[in-house]
Amino acid sequence: MDAKKKEGRYSRIAVQLEELLKKNGDTISKMATIVAVLHQKMPHFFWTGFYRLVENDLIAGPYQGPVACQTLDPEKGVCRACVNRDESIIVSDVEAFSGHIPCDSRSKSEIVIPVHDRQGNVVAVLDVDSDQLDSFDETDRNGLEKIIQLLHWTSRL
Ligand code: SME
Repeated sequence: MDAKKKEGRYSRIAVQLEELLKKNGDTISKMATIVAVLHQKMPHFFWTGFYRLVENDLIAGPYQGPVACQTLDPEKGVCRACVNRDESIIVSDVEAFSGHIPCDSRSKSEIVIPVHDRQGNVVAVLDVDSDQLDSFDETDRNGLEKIIQLLHWTSRL
């Protein structure tokens, strides 16, 4: 998908999600809806989901796609790097990322976005995998970072 088309699609998804989520005060339910819409509407999304940071473990939250690792090794992985650096990470080839955790061998590239609570603490990540190399770019980063804002994360889970 070219950049313009992808940008337009993220904008339309954001409008749809804003409408859906304003009627929903539950964070896990909101995460499930974000994942469902993204996974359905973005053809390059092979695995789409959240990992929640619970007592310093990254545990699988709402997701769509193949069955995922339930708890990630605390010492490695793209999701953990995202938490530690507190910034979005784009990996064009997962095999080139030292310490990548291969939950499914079909995943070839990925993007991970940190999710913050209202105090600015990282409380989860949004992780999207593609079964093609080099699937994610700045358009995905911008689109997903905006969509994550719609969570308005509260401590109520
Ligand atoms: N990519 C992650 C593991 C989770 S799966 O991609 C679903 C990582 O290396 O942190």
